[in-house]
Amino acid sequence: MSTKVAIVTGASQGIGRSTAIRLARDFDSIVLVARNRANLEETADAVEKAGARTLAIDIDLAQREAAQKIVDDTLASFGRIDALLNIAGAVPQIDLFDMTDEQWDAGFALKLHGARRLTAAAWPSLKAAAGSVVLMSGNSALFPKAPYAAVGTINAAIIALAKAFSDRGITDGVQVNSVLPGPVMTGRRRSYLEHWAPLHNMTVEEATARFPAEAGIARYGAPEEIAELMAFLVSPAAKWMTGSTLRMDGGEVKSV
Ligand SMILES: NC(=O)c1ccc[n+]([C@@H]2O[C@H](COP(=O)([O-])OP(=O)(O)OC[C@H]3O[C@@H](n4cnc5c(N)ncnc54)[C@H](OP(=O)(O)O)[C@@H]3O)[C@@H](O)[C@H]2O)c1
Repeated sequence: MSTKVAIVTGASQGIGRSTAIRLARDFDSIVLVARNRANLEETADAVEKAGARTLAIDIDLAQREAAQKIVDDTLASFGRIDALLNIAGAVPQIDLFDMTDEQWDAGFALKLHGARRLTAAAWPSLKAAAGSVVLMSGNSALFPKAPYAAVGTINAAIIALAKAFSDRGITDGVQVNSVLPGPVMTGRRRSYLEHWAPLHNMTVEEATARFPAEAGIARYGAPEEIAELMAFLVSPAAKWMTGSTLRMDGGEVKSV
């Protein structure tokens, strides 16, 4: 059995939960990070059934002190960090002209600075392990929309941040990539559809049924499908891939 250790943020539900369960096949120990303790414990049960040890850390990643605590607790429990998968995200879905400075700050505080601080805090351990990092962006980085402007803006910044880390990773031996999912059916996608429905004069049920065709795709993605891509990116097979931005979106992006 491998002795490798992975940290997965956003592990209490959605893509992060599926990724943590999938990684149990490749990693000996998985550190699960999010705020909701009960949901984290459910994920921990599933990860342990899939064969890995777990450490659940319920913490708000938007808080500055969170990153160092996660790294310290991981090293105290498992002694090393081989992979860091920054998946947590909850950017406010508010119109460009209605969004306050505080709401912009909250969006950046979690998804951009939370991932940046955790990657920086884990870097010495990742360097020692010749490890791998994934940062979660999203297709909205490629087509930002006024009704949810912060989502696209912050996802675009994540791609640039991953590129900057990967630049340092070339000399430090740490591999860093970013991932852009298309529409994946999770709690976050349901909340997006709740905003999208009234903008298109539909009920949420109608919007849920119609959205894939509007997006030019055959169906929603499943979180387990994105989890497979995440697992590939932190596997030995992907070791020479760094500084890349990978889309998995059912064909949503039509341009070359
Ligand atoms: N679903 C899609 O269609 C889609 C498309 C493109 C990109 N993405 C990106 O993929 C990532 C995961 O999305 P998802 O669809 O799986 O969403 P989700 O089901 O809403 O999960 C979001 C995760 O982030 C955690 N989180 C939120 N705020 C946090 C905070 N302050 N501190 C720590 N953890 C926090 C949540 O846990 P707690 O609430 O327990 O803290 C949860 O585990 C996000 O970054 C999202 O932007 C999703």
